[in-house]
Amino acid sequence: MVDSAKDTLNSEQLPAYENLLELEDLRVHFHTQDGVVKAVDGVSFSLNAGETLGVVGESGSGKSVTALSILGLVPMPPGQIAGGDIRFKGQSLIGMKDKDLRQIRGNHIAMIFQDPLSALNPVYKVGKQVAEGLRIHRGYNKQQANARAIELLDMVGIPNPEQRVREYPHQFSGGMRQRAMIAMALACEPEILIADEPTTALDVTIQAQIIELMQRMQHDLGTAIIMITHDLGVVADVADRILVMYAGKPVEYGTADQIFYEPLHPYTWGLMRSIPKRTIDDDKPLTPIKGNPPSLINLPPGCAFSERCPYATDRCREQEPSIKLISDEHFSACFYSDDEEFILNSPIYDDAEELKAQAAAGMLYTGIERDAEDAEDAGGAAQPAGERDNTASTQAGESNG
Ligand SMILES: Nc1ncnc2c1ncn2[C@@H]1O[C@H](COP(=O)(O)OP(=O)(O)OP(=O)(O)O)[C@@H](O)[C@H]1O
Ligand code: SF4
Ligand SMILES: [Mg+2]
Repeated sequence: MVDSAKDTLNSEQLPAYENLLELEDLRVHFHTQDGVVKAVDGVSFSLNAGETLGVVGESGSGKSVTALSILGLVPMPPGQIAGGDIRFKGQSLIGMKDKDLRQIRGNHIAMIFQDPLSALNPVYKVGKQVAEGLRIHRGYNKQQANARAIELLDMVGIPNPEQRVREYPHQFSGGMRQRAMIAMALACEPEILIADEPTTALDVTIQAQIIELMQRMQHDLGTAIIMITHDLGVVADVADRILVMYAGKPVEYGTADQIFYEPLHPYTWGLMRSIPKRTIDDDKPLTPIKGNPPSLINLPPGCAFSERCPYATDRCREQEPSIKLISDEHFSACFYSDDEEFILNSPIYDDAEELKAQAAAGMLYTGIERDAEDAEDAGGAAQPAGERDNTASTQAGESNG
């Protein structure tokens, strides 16, 4: 089936926000000895000032490459922008001169990298690195930069900042390095902060502190945040909208409420059932998605998720679904997302009550509030499995353990 162009995810369909940042059908490929890795293949989203976008997907789904592309940090070669556009305040960043891009990087758009040790230079003192952007972009002299570095370290909760600015990254603990990187990213008060798995390597208490810190910065400075994570639970509490990626492609995109309470794509259902916090209930063990993501060099024909999807039909294995607008601002790339019976029979809708109870108890890190009427609606959606010729409900029941 060929979907009508007007229904697919393109910038005209995206909600009309201030469009601080727009990605339109971005494609980033790597030319390797084994073949072309389509790391990012048709990603679109828009980001409004002060808003938080969660980008979620398993390892290798193209999250970091998407982020690095925005900052012009994809190594080329082997990387190549194979198509699409990235616009910051309406201005295309693709093909922009390196000198101009450097003005935007750190100054207007900053990034907290996945690995703080690789982002912090081991041979320079932390204070010098935190303040580097201020010297480059804001013309601060050495004393001014040092004073501001102390303020920034203090602001991100690093004790004894006067002493800490003179220390090297290896003298910092993991959590403190992460905080130093946040301080560095925030130094020039960027309009957009990209946080790539900022909490993965940290324990739960520090994770919560770092997320709280980023939210406070957002509140104080109006920063827009792109929060990248493999764990939907991490963005439950912080994202306004969520983009779910699989094998380099967007598979679902919507508001956080839509993704959490009305998820449409079987891959999103799988991610929801993998949220670690759900193991708190012993009767509902963690259900990781079976199998592994496909090779990005040789994607299977049809839907990229078909080899792991319990609902896959012959059609799914032959034709590729494109991402389509299903309801108000809510996009999904599954043939059956507009089939009400299919959606209502999903394991997530059976679990709606439990999910909401966990959310209310803060067990999903979620602060999303639902009023009583909404709760009733969602509860009513948990209907007995109907008969589908693809035995979807049976298989879902099995994978439930
Ligand atoms: N420099 C490179 N050369 C070749 N392939 C690359 C390069 N950088 C990334 N890739 C490939 O692009 C794909 C997407 O990688 P990316 O780092 O964006 O994944 P990710 O979603 O951030 O995963 P993770 O959760 O593990 O960080 C992967 O298959 C990766 O191997
Ligand atoms: S299109 Fe088919 S294989 Fe892909 S997610 Fe939907 S049901 Fe599963
Ligand atoms: Mg990554």
